[in-house]
Amino acid sequence: MLESEVVKDFLFETNAMCAHIIDQNGIVKFINKTYLEILGKKEEEVIDHPIGDITPETRSLSVIKTGKAVIGYNWTVNNYNMIASSIPLIQKGKLKGCFSYSVFMDIWDAKNIVDNLTQQLNMYRDEVHSVYSSRYSFDDIIGQAANIIDMKSLAHKAALHPSITVLINGESGTGKELFAHAIHSASCRKKMPFIRVNCAAIPENLLEAELFGYEEGSFTGARKGGSTGKFELAHGGTIFLDEIGEMSPTMQRKLLVFLQEREFERLGSHRPVRVNVRVIAATNKDLAEMIRQQKFREDLYYRLNVLSLKIPPLRERIADLPLLVKHLLLEINKDLKTKVSEMSVGAMDLISQYHWPGNVRELQNVLQRGIILADLDGCRIITREHLYFMKIDSEKPGFVSTNTLKELVRDYEKQILTKVLKETNYNKTKTAEILDMDLSWLYKKIKRYGLTSENTITSIKENV
Ligand SMILES: Nc1ncnc2c1ncn2[C@@H]1O[C@H](COP(=O)(O)OP(=O)(O)OP(=O)(O)O)[C@@H](O)[C@H]1O
Ligand SMILES: [Mg+2]
Repeated sequence: MLESEVVKDFLFETNAMCAHIIDQNGIVKFINKTYLEILGKKEEEVIDHPIGDITPETRSLSVIKTGKAVIGYNWTVNNYNMIASSIPLIQKGKLKGCFSYSVFMDIWDAKNIVDNLTQQLNMYRDEVHSVYSSRYSFDDIIGQAANIIDMKSLAHKAALHPSITVLINGESGTGKELFAHAIHSASCRKKMPFIRVNCAAIPENLLEAELFGYEEGSFTGARKGGSTGKFELAHGGTIFLDEIGEMSPTMQRKLLVFLQEREFERLGSHRPVRVNVRVIAATNKDLAEMIRQQKFREDLYYRLNVLSLKIPPLRERIADLPLLVKHLLLEINKDLKTKVSEMSVGAMDLISQYHWPGNVRELQNVLQRGIILADLDGCRIITREHLYFMKIDSEKPGFVSTNTLKELVRDYEKQILTKVLKETNYNKTKTAEILDMDLSWLYKKIKRYGLTSENTITSIKENV
């Protein structure tokens, strides 16, 4: 019959599957080219031979015993993984043999590729996680004042609702980023990435690519192969949009669309990408005022402000100072490998009167300077004297500058010179002797620091 010849030819020639037929005694009556290739045999070595001699593990022998088909089993011949089916051939109610075919050989190759890729993906996930993981928990937020405790408990609630968008507002240095980390760490997303994007630090024209990624060739300078955006990297985790008040109107609109749709398109692509991320935004700006000035979109504000945290400034929780000082001294000493572990009552008194416009970050800087100066003095306690710069700077309301080591050393040098000059009643030769320095060098320093006897005496009085 023409049709059966056509089918037979097709079966013989096809490379999409291995096929063979055995009779009711298990003798091979047909085998196709692909199967022969895989077995590495010639047709005459197989035809009219028992299948049990060729592939002893075949399931077709059980089919001719039971008369029942076996569909979709995995098996391996000569290292080729295959999915096979064996079907009984029945004619007029009588079992005549078995037809077997093994298909999708390369599905296993595909599976291997997928397995490899999954492995790689997990590796990259781990890497992303190690680079982009949250570093702080609620335990790192020091404070017992009622206003900070309230914020911590509200933030805890946010942590329990892993999809709620959170807006954190507070003055510079109050701990907004710390709170964002802590929320992520306490949520079920903690094993996934925590990615911070500083909206103020990235030029407007690059922010979109940074957040949403781009396809190859989508703009001049675009990297070959394109780039994954931060939203995609954060998939499953949290994206922290810091300094959101600095976002341009265009980006505000794009962010709004993302928050509404929960999907976006990479630059240069029209394929929507869906991600599951929690958005935490932070700003030290008064967004309500910015809305009034039409600098911030009201609709975006409401999308972001699902749960709002207002972090209190340090001067509104000044009772927390001793706790914070203790905690920060430990941390800074660890960093600087110093052993200045205490603060005198006088110094504590001084810092309690200050109004801390730069909040905890400023306190950190002040303590760092204090530790360096105390250490240079061979002292394990920060005294009021080591914080002399606060006294001077506090004349300019609320300003304590952050200094480099060079500046700190210079400050210290000035302080020592002032002290010895006073002790020697402004006798330069004696001063140079005591400090074992060249007289001409001392003159230079006196000139550089403006240490006239008048100034010296004034500053000493201040330091008492
Ligand atoms: N309650 C706190 N307990 C311990 N450390 C704190 C606390 N608040 C802030 N800090 C520390 O102060 C520094 C500033 O905190 P953070 O960066 O979170 O502030 P911020 O509000 O994001 O500041 P900015 O507005 O300048 O970005 C960090 O080193 C942080 O660890
Ligand atoms: Mg910050």
